[in-house]
Amino acid sequence: MHYTDFPGAPVKGAVLCALSDIPTDGFFSGTAGGFLFVAVQTGQGPKVYVNACPHQFLPLDQRGPEVRGADGHTLLCTNHNAAFDLETGEGTKGFGMGCRLTPVPVEVSGGDLVVA
Ligand code: FES
Repeated sequence: MHYTDFPGAPVKGAVLCALSDIPTDGFFSGTAGGFLFVAVQTGQGPKVYVNACPHQFLPLDQRGPEVRGADGHTLLCTNHNAAFDLETGEGTKGFGMGCRLTPVPVEVSGGDLVVA
């Protein structure tokens, strides 16, 4: 799926959050006009994904805040423990295998993360 397939998908140039909202070793769970997203810092810069696990399209953090894996390179779904690579969104474990998180293209502008 493409991020624009999700309800309320933001248009190019829309501000999602401030770069400073994203903790270095955690994640930021936000909404933009009803569109749910998660933002993370990676070694390649900030990444944003639609906050909808491809297993059942539930928010990754629906059952709690333990979304960032202890290894620092994984995002976990709190519903049924699917795991995804932080930098690519590719499923790496459980119900994540064979699917991936949906990326949202972003760029940093004036200290904000905006849709690219
Ligand atoms: S909804 Fe994420 S693992 Fe089931």
